[in-house]
Amino acid sequence: MTVVLKVDRWNPDRRALAEARSVLSSGGLVAFPTETVYGLGANGLMGDAVSAVYKAKGRPSDNPLILHVGSPEDAEKAAFADARARSVMKSFWPGPLTLVLPARPAVPKEVTAGLSTVGIRMPSHPVALALLQECPFPVAAPSANASGRPSPTDAAAVEADLKDGVNLILDGGPTDLGLESTVIDMTGPVPILLRPGGFPLEALEDFLGPVALPEGESELKRSPGTRYRHYAPILPMRLWPPEDPFPLKLGEKAAYVGMISPKGKVRDSIIFKDPAAYARGLFAAMRTLEKLPVDLIVAQWPREDGIGLALRDRLIRASGGDIH
Ligand code: TXA
Ligand code: MG
Repeated sequence: MTVVLKVDRWNPDRRALAEARSVLSSGGLVAFPTETVYGLGANGLMGDAVSAVYKAKGRPSDNPLILHVGSPEDAEKAAFADARARSVMKSFWPGPLTLVLPARPAVPKEVTAGLSTVGIRMPSHPVALALLQECPFPVAAPSANASGRPSPTDAAAVEADLKDGVNLILDGGPTDLGLESTVIDMTGPVPILLRPGGFPLEALEDFLGPVALPEGESELKRSPGTRYRHYAPILPMRLWPPEDPFPLKLGEKAAYVGMISPKGKVRDSIIFKDPAAYARGLFAAMRTLEKLPVDLIVAQWPREDGIGLALRDRLIRASGGDIH
């Protein structure tokens, strides 16, 4: 049985946090809101608890998890940080930025999927931060969706995907950014962007200088999660670049999501006012539109700057690259 506790995001109830801590301490799973998406958390020092996360999500065992911490000092208990990594943490944490660093031996292999590195982030959501500061251990947490599905941006999506696979859900309302954190590999001389996300690449490059984009197989293998079809609704998705004519004959067979209203007729559409709103609402829109009696979801292909880079990444993975 899954217990759902509502928590006030600005003033999270101490009893709910203590309950979450107690579930995690005894090896159970707790879903909690972050500023990006909901996470499915386990005690990051307990290998068996972490294994239960893979089982609940149906996640391939070679895809490592992110450790969530309540401070940069706690991050350094799990990873080796050099001066550059420390300055990134100091400048940009808490926030939607995950750093891949060399792992300390205390990190269980279930967290790292056997790699010598570990992904770490300190989230800024008040509920996540209060929970992490309450716990005397780091919390290993992937997004709280069933593997391959759109990430959950509210508690109902967590419940729908995980059913009884989670002991406790802290319901802090919808998340702020709607897309996952930016993941960068800081283990080599040049930082590598492993996953575009809620933290803009432009801001990272202003601070760190050029950040390399993974090209080809060898780099892709470094972030195992990017190999799979991901973030996908049940229905096929097709992307529409607005400079091309809208495929008019779709009609009642298609639903649409984007920022510009399509000229052609569709069964239903969800229109967002700007890229930030599109990012915040995309996954929830997929979960809404896939329930309609249509054959296809058409999504607007956005510009590449700012959050657009992450939006494009999620849309490509959700559609299998089917550009219109
Ligand atoms: O915003 C987020 O990052 C959310 C919230 C809950 O914090 N979490 C999340 O976790 O999106 P997940 O497991 O769905 O995605 C983590 C990504 C995967 O692509 C994984 O392969 C990569 O980070 N990753 C984790 N540890 C890694 C490591 N040591 N080396 C390379 N990639 C790593
Ligand atoms: Mg995920």
